[in-house]
Amino acid sequence: MYVCICNALRDKELQAAAADPAVKEVGCVFKRCEAKPRCGRCLPDVADMIAMHRLGPEGLATAAE
Ligand code: FES
Repeated sequence: MYVCICNALRDKELQAAAADPAVKEVGCVFKRCEAKPRCGRCLPDVADMIAMHRLGPEGLATAAE
């Protein structure tokens, strides 16, 4: 499934980039995918992917409260 329409990036590509422990922010995910954010619509989803890899599903739910 495409998450970033502007760059034709799929969830698997973004998840793989977000899983890298060196990735700390959304911009790093795009850099690893050799892309740049454009419209910004996907940025919250990409940020959630990073948080999910850092905090896990329970930590992500707690952080959202
Ligand atoms: S959908 Fe990702 S930058 Fe537009």
